[in-house]
Amino acid sequence: MVNETPQHIPVMPDEVVAQLAPRPGEVVLDCTLGRAGHAQLIMPMIAPGGRYIGLDVDPANLAYARDAVDSPPVPMELVHRNFAEAGDVLDELEVDGVDLLLADLGFASTQVDDPGRGLSFLQDGPLDMRLDPTIGRTAADLVNRTPQNELADLIYRYGDERFSRAISRKIVERRRRTPINTTSELAELCCAVYGPRARRQRIHPATRTFQALRIAVNDELGRLEALLGAMGRLLKPDARAVIISFHSLEDRAVKQAFRRFASDGLAELLVSKPLRPSDEERHANSRSRSARLRALRWLAARGRASS
Ligand SMILES: C[S@@+](CC[C@H](N)C(=O)[O-])C[C@H]1O[C@@H](n2cnc3c(N)ncnc32)[C@H](O)[C@@H]1O
Repeated sequence: MVNETPQHIPVMPDEVVAQLAPRPGEVVLDCTLGRAGHAQLIMPMIAPGGRYIGLDVDPANLAYARDAVDSPPVPMELVHRNFAEAGDVLDELEVDGVDLLLADLGFASTQVDDPGRGLSFLQDGPLDMRLDPTIGRTAADLVNRTPQNELADLIYRYGDERFSRAISRKIVERRRRTPINTTSELAELCCAVYGPRARRQRIHPATRTFQALRIAVNDELGRLEALLGAMGRLLKPDARAVIISFHSLEDRAVKQAFRRFASDGLAELLVSKPLRPSDEERHANSRSRSARLRALRWLAARGRASS
């Protein structure tokens, strides 16, 4: 079934399968198909009779997934759409609701490792950061056009960066002379603000600023809220949903929504605390380190209020 070895290692594969508990004939909505790593695990379990719908905002990952899975054991539909619009996608495909929903948030290793995407401060590239390169503002647009106070607030709110004001001031001083167009230029500004303090940090001085800009560029929290708000439309009764998040702002949104569903009697929480990767997985795949997995079983009849 697989043509190539994917360079992106699917996170917490055993836990994903255990919580979703796929059965033959079930319909899956994979909100973040990525390199089809989880898809290749799940598809054989829903055969025969199942259906796999995979969304991704990144056309390159969709193309990869299409090539990587050459003979899927169930029909596999790949759709270039944001998961915030998952309800519209199901309407267009005339799917009433799904049995399994997976959202493995954020970006694939292959995206961050590609300097052309501008997601990494460790490699020089255009300051882009869009996961969907067909729409929206780039990180360079934000950095070069956002008013200083707004930029500082954004870096603080989404990056929890204590030097957000100083970094934003430095950005504005620099852009008055010449625009900031590359990842290296921005990373150097962050290093300059930290100065010798950088040596005492566990993480690179640009880590938090880059995280903040990536969240803003891709409207990660807005899109996640839209997905959570659509659960009642997306899930059939008895459906299982798994969401894996990689930063505390995402995990908080998932935790609050899941608790709200449970207290409204719409869903049952399958894990009371988020599952974390094993030590073994953390060592083998450094990207898994910050993963938190939450899971629920939907109880309500579809169409009822969900947010
Ligand atoms: C962590 S990767 C998923 C990896 C996948 N589970 C696998 O095993 O190969 C996340 C993927 O979700 C996509 N993505 C991020 N935000 C999205 C959104 N709002 N809607 C659709 N896709 C999104 C990214 O482009 C990326 O390909």
